[in-house]
Amino acid sequence: MSLRLILAVALAAGSLSAADTKSPPWETSHLVIGRDLFRENCAVCHDIDKDKMHSRKLGPSLNHLFKNEKMPLSHAKPNRQYVVIRIKFGGALMPAFGKRLDDSEINTLIDYIASK
Ligand code: HEC
Repeated sequence: MSLRLILAVALAAGSLSAADTKSPPWETSHLVIGRDLFRENCAVCHDIDKDKMHSRKLGPSLNHLFKNEKMPLSHAKPNRQYVVIRIKFGGALMPAFGKRLDDSEINTLIDYIASK
């Protein structure tokens, strides 16, 4: 399957909404690990606390990624599966993290993004 096809399938499968996947408040340490993963791997190119009007980084701000109607670039309904694939395979300018982060780390990272 080509990456384009995988992305299309993931976008179409947007059934998992962020609301069902958000971590419960007692999982603070889980979110702290997610925050550290974000800082190590993503923060150089993505803001998470600044909205797009105030972000000056190379990649789009991931602020409220799962709370907004649409994702900043793809304009798809926010969907966890798509974000997993974006992280694993990267993009035109974004590096792929499939060899650097395992599935559990990617999940923790996305839980952190969904908490913002
Ligand atoms: C070297 C800079 C860079 C790094 C590091 C990086 N990204 Fe990106 N990211 C980008 C750029 C630039 C885009 C948009 C263009 C593209 O796809 O290359 C993007 C796009 C995205 C998108 C798609 C947004 C949309 O609306 O479709 C998501 C989600 C994303 N990045 C998440 C992450 C996460 C999570 C990490 C950390 C694991 C990360 N990025 C690391 C540069 C980066």
